[in-house]
Amino acid sequence: MKLSVALDLPSADENIALATSLAEYDIWMKVGFRSYIRDGKPFIQALKEINPNFKIFLDLKLYDIPNTMADAAEEIAKLGIDMFNIHASAGVVAMRAVMQRLEQYPNRPLVLAVTALTSFDEENFQAIYEKSIDQKAQQFAKMSYASGLDGVVCSAFESRMIKNATSPNFLTLCPGIRPFGEDAGDQKRVATLDLAKQEGVDFPVIGRPIYKDSNPKERVEKILEKIGE
Ligand code: C5P
Repeated sequence: MKLSVALDLPSADENIALATSLAEYDIWMKVGFRSYIRDGKPFIQALKEINPNFKIFLDLKLYDIPNTMADAAEEIAKLGIDMFNIHASAGVVAMRAVMQRLEQYPNRPLVLAVTALTSFDEENFQAIYEKSIDQKAQQFAKMSYASGLDGVVCSAFESRMIKNATSPNFLTLCPGIRPFGEDAGDQKRVATLDLAKQEGVDFPVIGRPIYKDSNPKERVEKILEKIGE
């Protein structure tokens, strides 16, 4: 398992301070909408300066027509980041277009597809997709696997099922992790690190339980200890 820390603080300075406090760990840093829209490419460069071994996951969840997604994917590859994501519901044509466009980049970033957002509960999910989260997550995962993607974003509860339906090497990245059972916030399907381990999660994404802690470094240390157990 590889820890991915969500840099979701309100300002670049606060995110940089958080990353600096974690500089000794070669972990993944998740840059989302908020910080990328506000702070852009210089922010990514600043993170790499703090620790060149930080891996960057650009969480922009692309969803558009195939050509526009492929164009965006190419620009993302040029940023030199390590992983980004798109929505599986954009469909196989769009997912294949993205993967095809990235073929020219030998060190291309990993590409994951979002299945069901972890903030959905069954009722609200079914109101849109008319199927259970389990069914749809599995279907989206199979589509993503067949389109040549590297893995999916899902909840820890679907990780094992998705690997069984695709391949053990098909990556699962799971937000909604509350390492030691902390407050769920707006997340509906939250899992502890123990459960994430059991379910074969490759990347637990953790935001608030780290950056809202009075000592984020100590918290990360504890999380890494747990992951290493
Ligand atoms: O603070 P918390 O640990 O809930 O942060 C989870 C992070 O993962 C947030 O940055 C959120 O945008 C992101 N995310 C998510 N659900 C997804 C994909 C990404 O919560 N399906």
